[in-house]
Parts: sequence; structure tokens; C-alpha cells
Amino acid sequence: MNHQTIVVIDFGGQYNQLIVRRVRNLNVYAELVSADAPIDKIRAYNPIGIIFTGGPQSVFADDAPKVSPDVFKLGVPVLGICYGMQLTAHMLGGIVDHADRREYGKTDIKYEDSILFNGIDKDNVCWMSHTDCVKGLPQGFKRTAYTAGCENAAFEDNKRRIYAVQFHPEVVHTIDGNKILRNFLYSVCKAKGDWQMTDFVGEQIAAIRNEVKDGKVLCGMSGGVDSAVAATLLHKAVGDNLTCIFVDHGLLRKNEAQEVMRVFRDERGMNLIKVDASRQFLHDLSGVRDPERKRKIIGKDFIDVFGEEAKKVGKVDYLVQGTIYPDVIESGLGKSAVIKSHHNVGGLPSVVDFKKIIEPLRSLFKDEVRELGLALGLPEEIVLRQPFPGPGLAVRIIGNITKKKINILQDADCIFREEISKAGLNKSIWQYFAVLTDMRSVGVMGDERTYDYTIALRAVTSVDGMTADWADIPRDVLASASSRIVNEVKCVNRVVYDITAKPPATIEWE
Ligand code: XMP
Repeated sequence: MNHQTIVVIDFGGQYNQLIVRRVRNLNVYAELVSADAPIDKIRAYNPIGIIFTGGPQSVFADDAPKVSPDVFKLGVPVLGICYGMQLTAHMLGGIVDHADRREYGKTDIKYEDSILFNGIDKDNVCWMSHTDCVKGLPQGFKRTAYTAGCENAAFEDNKRRIYAVQFHPEVVHTIDGNKILRNFLYSVCKAKGDWQMTDFVGEQIAAIRNEVKDGKVLCGMSGGVDSAVAATLLHKAVGDNLTCIFVDHGLLRKNEAQEVMRVFRDERGMNLIKVDASRQFLHDLSGVRDPERKRKIIGKDFIDVFGEEAKKVGKVDYLVQGTIYPDVIESGLGKSAVIKSHHNVGGLPSVVDFKKIIEPLRSLFKDEVRELGLALGLPEEIVLRQPFPGPGLAVRIIGNITKKKINILQDADCIFREEISKAGLNKSIWQYFAVLTDMRSVGVMGDERTYDYTIALRAVTSVDGMTADWADIPRDVLASASSRIVNEVKCVNRVVYDITAKPPATIEWE
């Protein structure tokens, strides 16, 4: 790739990915690199600058992450943030100690003269989250900012181009945080601003053509954004040498399978094979109530069905995967407990006869994948669609799954989605869908007693799905969704709205 790169060294802070995104949003390509990476790996990026992220540790902890001290010998500008600042001080001979008073949240700050703070108000507000602070500066450094609780809220050695800030410029609550990052990139690192999505398209297409030549390529399409964008990119690069397999497990939203075929096969002329495996999935799921077992069965069936179809295609040279950057990072660093085992296409390589994997989205965040999809000319309905779990409606039908229940849920869900779109809320709500509860209750229709299902409506706002809040949907939107569902969908006589945040609930009901 022929663009400049900023290396962001990851010390485990919760905003590490955010820093990378902020830098990319400022048109400079950035990559997150683990703190224990050898110096040669960092050097190989030929970075124009290095940023140290924050982290949960104290520099004195036994297992505190460290970075190779040679990083300061690369002659490349360094910006240390929070833990990254303390580590910079610690490694270069400064004094780090417990702060007299812990600072958390929005904090008044006074900036002094620094290339980092050019063009911003000296009396300002930043976002702090620290218990240690730097009490003595390393030799050759001068202070460039302070707060009530932190005498060295920023410091620098402008000659060696090493800068450090205790606060978080990447968090929106630091009023001029973006300008500070911009100053670091453009004034200190002399960035050219040569990263943008349209270049990425051309670069990737050229790289794929160069690699694949006239080889055969196979791709699994799920209907989700990532695989759709990856397949479209490959199609642009290799045309008919790409074959896509779309496994329809029968648990998609109403009309979704037809929509995928229309957009990709009919409109774009992709070599797209649809396998209708709904009977097999339904059969294998019959009587299964446990959500984790549902996920396991669907994951296994998906791989089996895909493998069978791939056999018919025969030997291929490449297998495409829609892996995106957070998957790469999470699989490297994640240590969290498994709440739900997410089904994905990770098992496909074992059932396909291929030589090499291509992961064209490996360096992109979700919002960048969407931007890329739009740059490739994909319709908004595909690119901006809400996240949809791999096991589909199986985890939205509580208890055992039948064809009848799938139909009820598809119809109710379709109505809810229509009402949300009509109200113009589809872009501001992270996910919105219907759940078929396993509960039936008494109702009255005309003069008749009914005993039918309860549909739960779920709509949440979120930035990454890790935490979420229930969406405060206007009453009239809920009212029309509810009234249409009970009137238009058979076997439903009650609609409830889920008003639980995550945590303690999760977004999906199963
Ligand atoms: P939860 O329900 O865990 O969901 O709060 C967080 C996000 O993950 C999606 N989700 C899944 N995605 N396979 C997937 O591919 C799964 O098994 C699965 N379960 C939940 C969910 O839709 C939300 O976006």
C-alpha cells in the first residue's frame, strides 16, 4: 500500500480502537499494533508517527504492558495518551506516582504553548480517567498543560518530537481533542492526508487482481453487510472467476433471501448460487429450546451445507472471508467470558478445497466497511442495514421453532420495520426487531375469546452492541405497530415493548 501509516500501540485501553478510527477519519491510515510487538514489526510499517494508547494498568504492576524502548530511537514522532503518557515518562526517567486526587470525567484544563495545542482555547475542557500521574518530567521535557489534580497534564520534548497527554483527546468530551490529534498528525508528523475510501477501492482491486490473476475464487454470502461488501469488491476485481454461495437457512427476515438474489445476481450479474436448506435447518432444530444448542446446530448445518455446495463448485484457488478489523483485534486480545457463542463462517475453511484465504476487509472498521459498500455502489438498504445475528430468527423465537412460528415472526417483524422506517427512525436506532415470545394469553377479537401469542418489540440504541439502551420510540409509532400487528398477523393478540437496557439484559432475547 502506498499511503502513510500511523502505528497505534495497544496497551489495552478501552478507547484503543477509537484512536485508530479518529486518525483514519482525519485521512491518515492507522493500525493498532500489540504492545509486545517486536520493534522490527513496528519499523516495517515505516510509520510517520506512533501513538501509545491508554490502558487499565499502573506502570508499576508486574504484568504492566511495556513496549520496546527502541521505539524512541526510530526517529519518528510519538504521542503518549494516559497510560501511554505515564509509560513514556517511566521509560525515559521521569517520576510516576499515585495522583493526590483521582480525576475522572470532564475536567478543566489549561493548555500552555505547544504545537499540539495550536489554534485552540487555552482555557479548555478535557476528558480524564486516571489514578496515577507524572510527578517528575524526564530530562529535556517541558510541561504543556495542567489541571487542578494533575500538575503535568501534558508535556513534550519538541526536539525529539515526543509528546504526551494525560487526558484522552480521542473522546468527544475533550472539547478540542480532534484538533489536538490533527495537530499531531499534520503539524508534527507532516501527514499528507492520503487515506480515503475511494483510493482503498482502487488499491484493493489492483492488489486482488495481482494476487488472484485468473484463479478461481469462492465466497460465502450471508446477506450481512460484511460478506456483501467483500463479495462485491472481489466481483469488481475478478468478475466471473468469483462464485458466491448463499445458504438460505429459512430463518431470515421476510423477503430477505429474494432481496439478496435480486441485488447481487440479477442486478450485478454475480455468479451467486442460492441453496435453500430451510428444511434441513428446521428438521435439525425441531424440539430444540436451548439458545446455545440452537446456535451450535445452525453453525454446524451452515458449514455442512456450504461444504456440500462447495464440492459441486470443485477446487478453487481462493476462499474469501468477510473478516473485519474488530474481529482481528478481538480474536487476538479478547479474554472476556462467553455470553453467547456467535455463529460465524469461521469453520468454512475446513470444508473447502482451496489454496489461500483472501480477507479484503481485514483492516476496516464497520463504519468503514459501510463507506466502502457505498463507494462500490451498493444500495443503502444493504449497506446501512442493522446488524442481524447469524442464527437469524432462531434466537428471536423463544423455545422450539416451527415453520408456523417463523411465518408469524417474519410478518410481525416486517410490520415493525415498516413503521420504524415510515417514522424516519431507521438510521438512529441501532437494532429494531420483533421477538416471538413463548407465551400465549387471553384476548378478545370481535366478540370472540382468543388465546394467542405475545409479540415483544425490541429497539435499542448503541454504538457497538456491547452496551445498549432501549430506544425511546414515540408513542404513536409504537401504537401503529402494535395495532397493525394484532390486526394483520394471525395468532397474535398482544404486543409488548421491551424497556430493558444492556446490561442487565442482552439485545437479542436468546
Ligand atoms: P447480544 O444479544 O449479545 O447481541 O446483546 C449483541 C450483538 O450481537 C448480535 N448477536 C449475534 N450475532 N451471531 C451473530 O452473528 C449470534 O449468535 C448473535 N447473537 C447476538 C446481536 O444481534 C447484537 O447486534
